[in-house]
Amino acid sequence: MIRQLEEILDQGRKSIADAGSESALNELKVQFLGKKGKVTALMKGMADLPPAERPVMGKVVNEVKNSLEELFEARFREVRELDLERRLVQECLDVTLPGRRMPTGALHPLTLVTEEVVQIFSTLGFGVVEGPEIEKDYYNFEALNMPRNHPARDMQDTFYISEDVVLRTHTSPVQIRTMLKQRPPLKVIAPGTVYRRDSDLTHSPMFHQVEGFLVDAQVTFGDLKGTLVTFLNRFFGRRIGVRFRPSFFPFTEPSAEVDIACVICNGKGCRVCKDSGWLEILGCGMIDPEVFKAVGYDPAALSGYAFGMGLERLCMLKNGINDLRLFFENDIRFLRQF
Ligand code: PHE
Repeated sequence: MIRQLEEILDQGRKSIADAGSESALNELKVQFLGKKGKVTALMKGMADLPPAERPVMGKVVNEVKNSLEELFEARFREVRELDLERRLVQECLDVTLPGRRMPTGALHPLTLVTEEVVQIFSTLGFGVVEGPEIEKDYYNFEALNMPRNHPARDMQDTFYISEDVVLRTHTSPVQIRTMLKQRPPLKVIAPGTVYRRDSDLTHSPMFHQVEGFLVDAQVTFGDLKGTLVTFLNRFFGRRIGVRFRPSFFPFTEPSAEVDIACVICNGKGCRVCKDSGWLEILGCGMIDPEVFKAVGYDPAALSGYAFGMGLERLCMLKNGINDLRLFFENDIRFLRQF
């Protein structure tokens, strides 16, 4: 029996040394030390020995069992280490390889310009309000002193949704909504999307405006002029030539259009300003008494100014962009430049 035990120990030593993986070792361990394993079988066989021999044999069997367990332990450790080393070599990362770049998104140039305009006006004390893009004819036209059949409605080609509902053609209806909701003094701007049935090189059926208006006692055209000149100088980052030309809007009286000295040629005359040296940039005026009446304000006690400008145009002039369509094509090569 002792011979058998020595053989088992010898076999075990060899097989354990040959086993190259944890799973192979696990299998071996079952074969030798498991419930139906070789050592266990011998231990059971001890019952047949004469009682006097049992203690000696028991000791030997236990020694063999312990030896095998130690051998397994040691080999398990070795195999795990070898496995780790192999993986470290195989799965090694070359940290000097260039990484994969995650493309970062950026804000659209129009969003950037809108934010800048809002920023400048907020330093001048203007709050921001918004109104719906799908608008009642009443707010878009009627309350702005353009009754049905008024010839001024020809100035704007309108997308009608129904008889009474339009896509707003300008941000001016926000004036009406704000005056109805809040009480003067009012000092707000209203940026937003507007729609007109116009589509060519310099017109898009959807574009953006920012409206601004102020209502208080004794507001003057001088206040309007000072605010706009301050804004334009800050927006373009330098003292820029500005001129006010008399004009007409049904909802302001008097009205003006504002030109800036051409930012491309500095007023000398070029293709962009059609050799005039000036670029039209916005419409403005003193809020018409008829508009105050429409919202229930007393025109004798209150006065105000309003202005509206195109954000695409501002953005084009500031960044030297010469094609309006670039804003809406979403060509990544264009957008990336901002
Ligand atoms: N709403 C006018 C337009 O779209 C611009 C404007 C706004 C003019 C406010 C005067 C006062 O052309």
